[in-house]
Amino acid sequence: MNAETKISAGAKAIPVAKGIPLVGNTMEMSKDPAAFFVRCYRDYGPVYRVNVFGQKNYVIAGPEAGQFMNSKAARAGLRSKEFWQDFVDHHGASKTLTGVDGEVHQKMRAIMRDGFSRGAMAGRYHELTDIIDASITRDWGGKEVPVIEAFQYMIVHMLGEVMTGNAPLEYVRDIRVNILYILNVLVTKQRPGFFKFMPEFKKAAARVDELGESMVEEFFAHAEAGTLPKNLLGDVMRGHLNDPELIQKRDLKLVLTGPYVAGLDTVANSLAAAVYGILKTPGILEKVRAEADELFAKDVVTEKDVLGLSYIQNCLKEAMRLWPIAVAQVRTTNHDLEFEGYVIPKDENIFLGTSVPHFMEEFFPDPMKFDPDRYDRREHLKPGAYAPFGRGTHSCLGQSLAEVLMGICVARLFHRLDIALESPDYVLKTKTAPTPGPAMSFKIKVNGERNPAKSLRAENLGEAA
Ligand code: HEM
Repeated sequence: MNAETKISAGAKAIPVAKGIPLVGNTMEMSKDPAAFFVRCYRDYGPVYRVNVFGQKNYVIAGPEAGQFMNSKAARAGLRSKEFWQDFVDHHGASKTLTGVDGEVHQKMRAIMRDGFSRGAMAGRYHELTDIIDASITRDWGGKEVPVIEAFQYMIVHMLGEVMTGNAPLEYVRDIRVNILYILNVLVTKQRPGFFKFMPEFKKAAARVDELGESMVEEFFAHAEAGTLPKNLLGDVMRGHLNDPELIQKRDLKLVLTGPYVAGLDTVANSLAAAVYGILKTPGILEKVRAEADELFAKDVVTEKDVLGLSYIQNCLKEAMRLWPIAVAQVRTTNHDLEFEGYVIPKDENIFLGTSVPHFMEEFFPDPMKFDPDRYDRREHLKPGAYAPFGRGTHSCLGQSLAEVLMGICVARLFHRLDIALESPDYVLKTKTAPTPGPAMSFKIKVNGERNPAKSLRAENLGEAA
């Protein structure tokens, strides 16, 4: 790392985004962060300054941001610690994967790579389908279903099973409440600090803590007996035993929460956005149903089958383009950072607006149109154009897992149920907290069942290999 990057003389002045006295850009950004970053990119170019929540922040945005994030200069010049510190401190941990950089980050990522990958799902698509069916029976039975919430329960169940080998159903509600408070109060800080003391959060956090403790105990027992499972928790436990400084005992409980922090809101929001796009846009539902029905005509479903859901995967990509979860990635500058003739000072908060090109005509013609065929036209492959999973060293470790989880969820849902928007002219409302996406008020109508729940057979991995 070069802490003394040479700054060329005569750096350009960084434009400051126009805002309202005192509140600055807070309101415009809170209303629609994606539109705000696009507007500023158009007005000021790839580097500018904004004032949100009383804090001065620098921004690098546009395709320039995507390309920069993958560069050596970004690796040396940016850190993630500050953004995640409250979360780490709240749990009494020493670190978390998302909040460390450099060698420590690389080592932790290597330990967690398999557990977070779609390989973790191999041979388990029949189990996932059963989980989705159970969740459909439990939460999608009413005439009107709140989509985000229903997906949140489905995902907690799925992630618990895949990542930890255990989906503690009696804790699903606590996990959901706990994660939403963590994201709102400790990570994105869109809710004030005193929310930490809300009885609802304290109760949920205590329950999740109790669950974490029992799972850690169980994993120590497994370690002693030499029966540590091959999943994320097993890998992290092995990591701890091999290098107790790197993954400390006090960090272990966080590993239980980590997959939900990373995967709950992101997947629920993206799935809900895809459901909206599919139901709202003429001509799409029929194609989704045809592909889903073809998948579940099989007795056994494999990873290859789920990745082969090309139309559904395109719908998901389009949902993540139009409703990106991480509108901007947040970092702190390690040193005075020179970029395109501007100098962003050391130790400043910086937003990397990698999703700005998602809304630019130059990359995605007719950008506000939900058009899954774009991905066959490869519009997203232009440099810096498309980054729903982030860019750079911290880019989503769960991307391949998310793709198969979301693929099978969409396929199963549209195979099983006949669903529709509340009314054909319904227009999606969005939220920004804890992360941007469809509003909690988004509901769909269940008109009935298209196909009954029929369990799949387990894949024979021995035969497939
Ligand atoms: C549609 C679904 C998802 C989206 C759009 C998404 C998006 C992202 C983005 C943008 C980042 C980078 C954040 C940053 O650089 O500050 C990220 C990081 C991460 N994601 Fe995802 N994510 C999704 C699902 C998941 C799932 C299901 C998991 C696993 C359960 C997961 C695990 C992670 C992890 C572990 C990181 C941190 C990587 C690191 O710090 O090195 N994600 N994700």
